[in-house]
Amino acid sequence: MIRPGVAAALMGACVLGLGLASTAFAGDVERGERISSSCIACHGPGGNSHIPAMYPSLAGQDVDTLASMLEQYRSGEIQDPQMTPQAAHLTDEDIADLAAYFAGQEPK
Ligand code: HEC
Repeated sequence: MIRPGVAAALMGACVLGLGLASTAFAGDVERGERISSSCIACHGPGGNSHIPAMYPSLAGQDVDTLASMLEQYRSGEIQDPQMTPQAAHLTDEDIADLAAYFAGQEPK
Protein backbone atom coordinates (compact mmCIF):
# COMPACT_ATOMS: atom_id res chain seq x y z
CA MET A 1 0.00 0.00 0.00
CA ILE A 2 1.45 3.34 -1.04
CA ARG A 3 0.86 6.18 1.42
CA PRO A 4 -1.40 8.95 0.05
CA GLY A 5 1.36 11.57 0.21
CA VAL A 6 3.68 9.37 -1.83
CA ALA A 7 0.93 8.56 -4.33
CA ALA A 8 0.18 12.27 -4.80
CA ALA A 9 3.87 13.00 -5.31
CA LEU A 10 4.15 10.20 -7.87
CA MET A 11 1.07 11.43 -9.70
CA GLY A 12 2.49 14.94 -9.71
CA ALA A 13 5.70 13.62 -11.22
CA CYS A 14 3.75 11.78 -13.91
CA VAL A 15 1.68 14.83 -14.83
CA LEU A 16 4.85 16.90 -14.99
CA GLY A 17 6.53 14.20 -17.07
CA LEU A 18 3.62 14.04 -19.49
CA GLY A 19 3.56 17.82 -19.76
CA LEU A 20 7.23 17.87 -20.68
CA ALA A 21 6.88 14.94 -23.04
CA SER A 22 3.98 16.55 -24.87
CA THR A 23 5.83 19.79 -25.50
CA ALA A 24 8.80 17.83 -26.82
CA PHE A 25 7.18 15.00 -28.78
CA ALA A 26 3.43 15.43 -29.28
CA GLY A 27 2.57 15.94 -32.90
CA ASP A 28 1.36 19.24 -34.24
CA VAL A 29 -1.98 18.36 -35.87
CA GLU A 30 -2.14 21.50 -38.02
CA ARG A 31 1.33 20.98 -39.41
CA GLY A 32 0.47 17.32 -39.92
CA GLU A 33 -2.51 18.30 -42.03
CA ARG A 34 -0.39 20.68 -44.10
CA ILE A 35 2.24 18.07 -44.92
CA SER A 36 -0.28 15.26 -45.45
CA SER A 37 -1.20 16.36 -48.98
CA SER A 38 1.21 13.86 -50.55
CA CYS A 39 -0.25 11.00 -48.47
CA ILE A 40 -3.84 11.74 -49.50
CA ALA A 41 -3.16 10.72 -53.09
CA CYS A 42 -3.04 7.10 -51.93
CA HIS A 43 -4.57 7.05 -48.45
CA GLY A 44 -7.59 9.21 -49.31
CA PRO A 45 -8.86 12.52 -47.94
CA GLY A 46 -8.31 12.70 -44.17
CA GLY A 47 -6.77 9.24 -44.41
CA ASN A 48 -10.05 7.59 -45.44
CA SER A 49 -8.98 5.35 -48.26
CA HIS A 50 -11.07 4.85 -51.40
CA ILE A 51 -9.44 1.43 -51.87
CA PRO A 52 -8.70 0.15 -48.35
CA ALA A 53 -7.62 -3.27 -49.60
CA MET A 54 -4.77 -1.59 -51.47
CA TYR A 55 -4.13 1.55 -49.42
CA PRO A 56 -4.88 1.12 -45.71
CA SER A 57 -7.09 3.80 -44.13
CA LEU A 58 -5.12 5.87 -41.65
CA ALA A 59 -8.04 7.82 -40.15
CA GLY A 60 -8.57 7.14 -36.47
CA GLN A 61 -5.73 4.65 -36.12
CA ASP A 62 -3.76 4.70 -32.87
CA VAL A 63 -1.26 7.56 -32.88
CA ASP A 64 1.63 5.45 -31.58
CA THR A 65 0.92 2.67 -34.08
CA LEU A 66 0.93 5.15 -36.97
CA ALA A 67 4.19 6.71 -35.79
CA SER A 68 5.81 3.35 -35.28
CA MET A 69 4.75 2.10 -38.75
CA LEU A 70 6.19 5.23 -40.35
CA GLU A 71 9.46 4.76 -38.45
CA GLN A 72 9.60 1.16 -39.65
CA TYR A 73 9.05 2.17 -43.28
CA ARG A 74 11.68 4.87 -42.91
CA SER A 75 14.25 2.50 -41.39
CA GLY A 76 13.49 -0.19 -43.96
CA GLU A 77 12.27 -2.62 -41.30
CA ILE A 78 9.03 -2.83 -43.28
CA GLN A 79 9.45 -2.53 -47.03
CA ASP A 80 6.82 -1.68 -49.56
CA PRO A 81 7.54 -0.47 -53.10
CA GLN A 82 5.01 2.37 -52.76
CA MET A 83 5.27 3.30 -49.10
CA THR A 84 9.02 3.04 -48.47
CA PRO A 85 9.94 6.00 -50.71
CA GLN A 86 7.17 8.06 -49.06
CA ALA A 87 8.62 7.58 -45.58
CA ALA A 88 12.30 7.80 -46.48
CA HIS A 89 12.50 11.59 -46.29
CA LEU A 90 10.32 12.11 -43.19
CA THR A 91 11.86 13.71 -40.09
CA ASP A 92 10.90 12.67 -36.54
CA GLU A 93 8.80 15.83 -36.36
CA ASP A 94 7.02 14.98 -39.64
CA ILE A 95 6.20 11.51 -38.32
CA ALA A 96 4.84 12.84 -35.02
CA ASP A 97 2.76 15.49 -36.79
CA LEU A 98 1.39 13.14 -39.47
CA ALA A 99 0.52 10.48 -36.87
CA ALA A 100 -1.26 13.08 -34.71
CA TYR A 101 -3.22 14.37 -37.70
CA PHE A 102 -4.38 11.01 -39.08
CA ALA A 103 -5.13 9.58 -35.61
CA GLY A 104 -7.46 12.52 -35.02
CA GLN A 105 -9.46 12.01 -38.23
CA GLU A 106 -12.91 10.45 -38.12
CA PRO A 107 -12.88 7.02 -39.82
CA LYS A 108 -15.66 6.87 -42.44
C1 HEC B 1 2.05 5.96 -53.67
C2 HEC B 1 1.01 5.64 -52.71
C3 HEC B 1 1.27 6.02 -51.25
C4 HEC B 1 1.56 7.28 -50.76
C5 HEC B 1 1.72 8.59 -51.52
C6 HEC B 1 1.65 7.12 -49.31
N1 HEC B 1 1.40 5.82 -48.95
FE1 HEC B 1 1.33 5.08 -47.05
N2 HEC B 1 1.00 3.21 -47.79
C7 HEC B 1 0.88 2.89 -49.13
C8 HEC B 1 0.67 1.46 -49.24
C9 HEC B 1 0.48 0.68 -50.54
C10 HEC B 1 0.67 0.94 -47.93
C11 HEC B 1 0.51 -0.52 -47.50
C12 HEC B 1 1.87 -1.13 -47.60
C13 HEC B 1 2.00 -2.48 -46.98
O1 HEC B 1 1.07 -3.27 -47.09
O2 HEC B 1 3.03 -2.70 -46.32
C14 HEC B 1 0.87 2.08 -47.03
C15 HEC B 1 0.91 1.97 -45.68
C16 HEC B 1 0.99 3.05 -44.81
C17 HEC B 1 0.92 2.97 -43.36
C18 HEC B 1 0.69 1.69 -42.55
C19 HEC B 1 -0.80 1.61 -42.30
C20 HEC B 1 -1.31 0.27 -41.90
O3 HEC B 1 -2.41 0.22 -41.32
O4 HEC B 1 -0.65 -0.75 -42.19
C21 HEC B 1 1.05 4.21 -42.87
C22 HEC B 1 1.01 4.64 -41.42
C23 HEC B 1 1.20 5.10 -44.01
N3 HEC B 1 1.16 4.36 -45.17
C24 HEC B 1 1.34 6.46 -43.92
C25 HEC B 1 1.56 7.30 -45.01
C26 HEC B 1 1.85 8.71 -44.88
C27 HEC B 1 1.89 9.48 -43.56
C28 HEC B 1 2.04 9.20 -46.13
C29 HEC B 1 2.44 10.60 -46.55
C30 HEC B 1 3.73 11.04 -46.06
C31 HEC B 1 1.85 8.07 -47.05
N4 HEC B 1 1.57 6.94 -46.33
C32 HEC B 1 1.92 8.16 -48.44
C33 HEC B 1 0.91 3.76 -50.19
C34 HEC B 1 1.19 5.11 -50.11
